[in-house]
Amino acid sequence: MKKYLYSLAFLGAVIYSCSTQTKTKTDAASTMASAAKAEDIRKGQDIFSQRCGRCHDLPAPSAFTTSEWKPILERMAPKAKLTADENSWVMAYVDANAKK
Ligand code: HEC
Repeated sequence: MKKYLYSLAFLGAVIYSCSTQTKTKTDAASTMASAAKAEDIRKGQDIFSQRCGRCHDLPAPSAFTTSEWKPILERMAPKAKLTADENSWVMAYVDANAKK
């Protein structure tokens, strides 16, 4: 009976450590994901301020909602000769600052 209790406690410890490990991993992954997103937004801001005010005044990201920005960026990306990456960074930047 004692042996049974010990193994139950051991099993409990294993399960507990596994579940905390999984949680730590998920937290790390989401921290990394948001760090990557913050980096995209920062790069997008640079590109936006360098490339989007050439032909007209630099628009305010907050002038449009995210769904309004999508077709605008589709029209403007070729004008500003953005690569697909640059376009997605600019989209991340305007999305983060768009009209709510
Ligand atoms: C080569 C010149 C050029 C560049 C570079 C350029 N635009 Fe434009 N943009 C225009 C012209 C021309 C218009 C007006 C015609 C139109 O809306 O298509 C315009 C219009 C706009 C408008 C108003 C759209 C509306 O519906 O009211 C926004 C916002 C805008 N641009 C954002 C951007 C952003 C963001 C970038 C950078 C990715 C950019 N533009 C780069 C030429 C440019």
